[in-house]
Amino acid sequence: MSLPIAEDTATQMLPTNLFKGARDKLHAKKLEKEMAHVEAQLVEQLSFASPVADAPARYLAEAGGKRIRPLLTLLASQLGDGPNELVHRAAVSVELTHLASLYHDDVMDEATLRRGVPAAHTVWSNSVAILAGDLLFARASSLVSGMGEEAIVLQAKTFERLCLGQLHETVGPQEGDDRIEHYMQVLADKTGALIATAARMGVMFGGAKAEYADMVQEYGERIGVAFQLIDDVLDLSEDKEQTGKLAGTDLRAGVQTLPVLLLQRRAETDRAAKDLLVRIEEGAARIQAGEPATLLDREVAELREHEVTAETLATAKQWASDAVAAIAPLPNSTVKDAFERLADSIVTREG
Ligand code: IPE
Ligand code: IPE
Ligand code: MG
Ligand code: MG
Repeated sequence: MSLPIAEDTATQMLPTNLFKGARDKLHAKKLEKEMAHVEAQLVEQLSFASPVADAPARYLAEAGGKRIRPLLTLLASQLGDGPNELVHRAAVSVELTHLASLYHDDVMDEATLRRGVPAAHTVWSNSVAILAGDLLFARASSLVSGMGEEAIVLQAKTFERLCLGQLHETVGPQEGDDRIEHYMQVLADKTGALIATAARMGVMFGGAKAEYADMVQEYGERIGVAFQLIDDVLDLSEDKEQTGKLAGTDLRAGVQTLPVLLLQRRAETDRAAKDLLVRIEEGAARIQAGEPATLLDREVAELREHEVTAETLATAKQWASDAVAAIAPLPNSTVKDAFERLADSIVTREG
């Protein structure tokens, strides 16, 4: 089995609202072709010397995914001379790194579904899923190893931040840590860092002005955080119930999201917030002890309507607008417009 790389498939991968107008549409067409090219190279990298390795290693890429990171690399390269061999390699390496992290994340989160298919560890085993992730991390390193010291160091530091983000999330805040600051740092590390690097590599290898590198990196990091915060809001969304998914999955599993952390802060001075928090914590504990997940239905609805959820949405929007502010000094162009629309589409997404 191989990944479809037809142009129309690549088209579907581009967020639909990034480009407007005739000139922009032409630009989009070119980008789609480039994405198809990157996809073909990604597939090549998912081949190892053994079928036993190939099946799990190809599994998640074949299952889908938005390819937002390679898209950012290509887009950022267009601030200079546009995609070339090294830009393609960078784009593939960031998607490989992302893919690898998903294999590991699903083991750690005991998640059963990823990209609409059963998570790899449920199809094979934890060990196989972890090793498949390691194989992809190794491939990403091999690709970057030929791209010069700056890229090698950037890739290594990004990987380090990704691991630190996952580690800090796993062990939680320590005595004396501000819980909200801790949480925001986790988001920046586990998600922001790689998206930031995806954008920076586009500038580095696309021949764009060096002064653009920090701007697009900052932009990437901030949209990454915005993206994660929207996830927290979407977890509570009623639409989830309508599509047959259980709203409040994080809440029921006792996962701390920004709405819950904000509720904890309010509970120090607000009796109603304290009451809701206690009910959520007790409900989550009972669900984890085996009682039905529906136990928290009322609290999920209450939290959805609570000010703390509106505050989380506002925070996500602020991160997206800070992302756009980071690239404000870029000259006006189709690429800059696309970056702005991408930031906007992240905070207006509904799924
Ligand atoms: C999901 O990332 C995991 C996070 C880092 C938040 P994406 O939403 O980019 O996942 P895919 O690649 O489209 O599946
Ligand atoms: C995604 O994190 C994995 C990484 C960022 C490495 P989450 O656990 O928060 O996201 P999903 O919901 O599984 O995609
Ligand atoms: Mg997860
Ligand atoms: Mg996780």
